[in-house]
Amino acid sequence: MPPGVGLACVFFLCVSLRGCFSGSRETAFTYAISAAGVVNAVSRACREGELSTCGCSRDARPSDLPRDWLWGGCGDNVKYGYRFAREFVDAREREKNYPKGTMDHARTLMNLQNNEAGRQAVYNLANVACKCHGVSGSCSLKTCWLQLADFRQVGEYLKEKYDSAAAMRIGRKGKLEQVDKRFNAPTLEDLIYIDPSPDYCLRNESTGSLGTQGRLCNKTSEGMDGCELMCCGRGYDQFKTYKHERCHCKFHWCCYVKCKRCTSLVDQFVCK
Ligand SMILES: *[C@@H]1O[C@H](CO)[C@@H](O)[C@H](O)[C@H]1NC(C)=O
Ligand SMILES: *[C@@H]1O[C@H](CO)[C@@H](O)[C@H](O)[C@H]1NC(C)=O
Repeated sequence: MPPGVGLACVFFLCVSLRGCFSGSRETAFTYAISAAGVVNAVSRACREGELSTCGCSRDARPSDLPRDWLWGGCGDNVKYGYRFAREFVDAREREKNYPKGTMDHARTLMNLQNNEAGRQAVYNLANVACKCHGVSGSCSLKTCWLQLADFRQVGEYLKEKYDSAAAMRIGRKGKLEQVDKRFNAPTLEDLIYIDPSPDYCLRNESTGSLGTQGRLCNKTSEGMDGCELMCCGRGYDQFKTYKHERCHCKFHWCCYVKCKRCTSLVDQFVCK
């Protein structure tokens, strides 16, 4: 399987619950990014005053902040978001109570670890943001606060964790241990998995993979949506299709926009 196809699966292909909730590397990423999303949303909602149980961040002033900068703008409440996500997102795993040493229990441990890695990502990437005050942009005075990183940055960070995720197996006393002991043990920030990834290129109902046959792909893209990767080297068919678009839009006073409908013939590609 070409690199990247596995992760593409999560977004494009993997709709069968059984496949997505196995113990693969892609599952690890899905749990982490979902947990990260909760921390992100709750932290921001606190700051914007949308929740009655929390408000702006009350984090202490960072010790390395220059002395004449003010600390105390309304920051994202990452501490609250983190705590909330730990209670809320992990609850469904904790409720399960599978016997130790079973594959189901191992999966629960895996999910908890990956949830934590997702929360850590948002927590650790949050940073100090500042705004200038002072005479016409002189920036003689600054106010600073804690701010979430752009969520895309969190996604990219977790994608790196996905690439370096640690393979685990059931060890002594039902705990997870790393398959290859030569590597450093995973930290709370790392993703782990216990099952190999299914082959997402081919349809397989028992793993929940839909396969990529018949999927639209982009002939010129070198990314995951490109025909090369997505069709797993099997090639693609080309056909022409009509595409309808709004065009020649005009603004009329006042106030609406009127468009025409244009139709063009475009090439489309589908995986063999
Ligand atoms: C489906 O996947 C399972 C588990 O990886 C494998 O044992 C089986 O051979 C696959 N079936 C097909 C039809 O490829
Ligand atoms: C196909 O990929 C190219 C290169 O990434 C991009 O510029 C183009 O917009 C894509 N086409 C479609 C239809 O998505």
